[in-house]
Amino acid sequence: MSLTSLRAVNVRCLKEVALEPAESNLIFGENASGKTSLLEALFILGRGRSFRTASREAVIRDGEQEMLIAGVMHCEGRDIRLGLRQQVDQPAKIRVDGRDETSPAALARCLPVQIIDPDVHQLVEEGPGVRRRFLDWGVFHVEPKFLDAWRRYHRIVRQRNATLKSNNVRQLDVWDRELAAAGEALSGYRGTYLEALSGYVGELGKALLGTEPAITYKQGWPEDRSLQEALVESRARDLRLGITHPGPHRADMTIHLAAKKARSRVSRGQQKLLGATLVLAQLAHLKAVKNLPAILLLDDLPAELDSLRLGRLRDVVSSLDAQLFLTALSRKDLAAWNCGAVFHVEQGKVLSVL
Ligand SMILES: Nc1ncnc2c1ncn2[C@@H]1O[C@H](COP(=O)(O)OP(=O)(O)OP(=O)(O)O)[C@@H](O)[C@H]1O
Ligand SMILES: [Mg+2]
Repeated sequence: MSLTSLRAVNVRCLKEVALEPAESNLIFGENASGKTSLLEALFILGRGRSFRTASREAVIRDGEQEMLIAGVMHCEGRDIRLGLRQQVDQPAKIRVDGRDETSPAALARCLPVQIIDPDVHQLVEEGPGVRRRFLDWGVFHVEPKFLDAWRRYHRIVRQRNATLKSNNVRQLDVWDRELAAAGEALSGYRGTYLEALSGYVGELGKALLGTEPAITYKQGWPEDRSLQEALVESRARDLRLGITHPGPHRADMTIHLAAKKARSRVSRGQQKLLGATLVLAQLAHLKAVKNLPAILLLDDLPAELDSLRLGRLRDVVSSLDAQLFLTALSRKDLAAWNCGAVFHVEQGKVLSVL
């Protein structure tokens, strides 16, 4: 499974680019030439959103009214066309395999894409939302029932919050039962996934960092209670503040390195390697359980890691069968990766040079 063509129109500084990627692709060019923007186009095609901003419209080229990103995935012997068109002040239009779709999940199913970029340490350092999103992408790809469970749970949280605000205590009993059932189901999927992932995190972490990291799931309410019990306990506070406190919308994952909490303990470089470990573990797991090789974007790695760590990362990455898109300022920075295709980005234009 791989992306065989990509077209991006009006994506940041890229006016119109078209390329035919190989299994591994090196993208080089000077600062501000458009390398990260090209990765961003790829990421949006697989996720429906950018990794740099919450607003897709911010990605539209200045002065333009719309952007278009389209690609062809070659998958199990056939081509699947994917497209996303974003106009100013409009919802995105998504097409997958000739059909209009309303949700980016349709894109994600066909194009599993992950990124390791200079912000990858945020997985370790930032608040729980980043880690929940990370976990959910992984669960989504291996558990077919997850998306419906996720949507159902978050709908019920919204309904319970509205009931809390209207102080309708009798109605709350109903929502508590519904929320507890939906929340336990959602949390069960995440917990099972994290357990499966943790073996890969330990193994790849050891290869990258020399020490085995460990991850633990935090479900979002006290471990020794059912969600129903936690909701009853939290009710007075929830009513006072008008929001639901306990539940998997507050889930998190703790990361330990050498039995110490990584967040407050490790160096920035180690945080980056830990973040990279998590992403690569996810891809290794996806390949093992679904035989699904993903697309991996590696932005600016030579600027981030020393040559020893970069070499270790290359070894791990090469075992994943992922289709690679790597960026660097100069072609020689990534010569050791032996990429099958090389693209030069200059002032928003992309030229194939191999
Ligand atoms: N909406 C937009 N419209 C037009 N240009 C934009 C928009 N958003 C960002 N840019 C510009 O696009 C240019 C390319 O940005 P990009 O981040 O892709 O560069 P890069 O090649 O990755 O650079 P670096 O090596 O510094 O990481 C920058 O000059 C940036 O200011
Ligand atoms: Mg960049």
